[in-house]
Amino acid sequence: MSKFLNLTLAATLAVAAAPAFADGHKFGLGRTALPEEIAAWDLDVLPDGTGLPVGQGDAIDGEEIFAEACAICHGDFAEGVDNWPKLAGGDGTLADEDPLKTVGSYWPYLSTTFDYVRRSMPFGNAQSLSNDEVYAIVAYILYSNDIIEDDFVLSNETFLDVDMPNAAGFIVDDRRDAEYAIWSGEPCMENCKDDVKITMHVLFKGDEEEAAAETGPAAQQDAAAPAAEAPAQEAAAPAAEAAPVETVALDAELVKKGEKVFKKCKACHQVGDKAKNKTGPILNGIIGSEVASVEKFKYSKAMSALGGTWTEENMAEFLKKPKAYVKGTKMSFAGLKKDKDIAAVTEYLKSFSE
Ligand code: HEC
Ligand code: HEC
Repeated sequence: MSKFLNLTLAATLAVAAAPAFADGHKFGLGRTALPEEIAAWDLDVLPDGTGLPVGQGDAIDGEEIFAEACAICHGDFAEGVDNWPKLAGGDGTLADEDPLKTVGSYWPYLSTTFDYVRRSMPFGNAQSLSNDEVYAIVAYILYSNDIIEDDFVLSNETFLDVDMPNAAGFIVDDRRDAEYAIWSGEPCMENCKDDVKITMHVLFKGDEEEAAAETGPAAQQDAAAPAAEAPAQEAAAPAAEAAPVETVALDAELVKKGEKVFKKCKACHQVGDKAKNKTGPILNGIIGSEVASVEKFKYSKAMSALGGTWTEENMAEFLKKPKAYVKGTKMSFAGLKKDKDIAAVTEYLKSFSE
């Protein structure tokens, strides 16, 4: 493990050292870097090939150099030894739970491989290879990934002829243009909705007794005086029609615990007024609603076919082991082990009505 850290640390120091040299005259520290020193450090290669040194090599030569300088850690076929990084394989695993990311399966640009090898490998003896050797080794890594044939000569001229399998797997982050305007506007602070309709009241455990105390005597009175019933009902009827309000008793403490448990769900699910479908559907009002019925969410076939309504019971079973309860669900979540957590998160979900 310390070996990994050392390399990262060395890279950090190299970067940090550059401005220190430049500002040396200010602080009386260090000296200005020599042109050779800057040149030795400034050897990055860009995806379009800018910065490539002149040189060439093929996989046949590369295999020999690789066997000598790299195979002890990365394996004879770049397949990796023990926990040293694998440089080949992993094709088609990127969507898996445990993807194997290698030069072949993951890296979008060949320039990264060239730059990485030239700059930092072999580990512990960095920059000991000639440019031709680096070309040959990179060719061998490509060959080990079935990206080129063994007679392909990799050079500064043929470099861009190589098609990296995952080149299209990366997209430019356009959130600045696509999303910035959405979340940077003036937030609405009052009267933000034209039509407000209360569909449900939440009653916390502590309030329950109070509520019972309020309604209790009235109910008793009704029973004691049947004569008064008729007019009382008449008076109550219009009010009830105007506000068809359902009251759900929630355990405030359990809701609080559930909020903590919900952190495990948050990566994929949202609740509340502004909830949107993410990797998983919005979970407002989920208990009591039909399974797989959130609008505009694309469920797996398995979930869509499940049918029925979410109750506390089947939700508990689902959350215990999602993949066992719905075989083929695309909810990549191992499940909640503790019944306590399941009860808490369910209570929390119940506090979000539709
Ligand atoms: C002593 C062991 C060792 C030797 C020898 C070695 N490497 Fe490495 N290599 C590593 C380690 C450790 C890393 C990971 C470094 C890190 O993540 O900071 C690595 C990472 C890499 C990577 C990046 C892998 C990735 O997916 O992130 C490439 C490419 C690579 N090595 C190529 C080579 C080549 C080519 C040689 C021979 C010239 C070589 N290595 C020799 C230990 C070694
Ligand atoms: C890694 C992402 C992920 C995590 C974490 C996750 N879910 Fe999901 N969840 C999904 C996906 C995706 C679906 C849709 C499943 C399908 O279509 O097969 C789903 C579906 C559901 C459904 C069914 C919804 C419906 O409309 O029928 C419920 C309920 C649910 N999740 C609750 C939870 C809870 C509670 C947690 C946390 C304990 C959680 N999920 C954690 C991704 C996730």
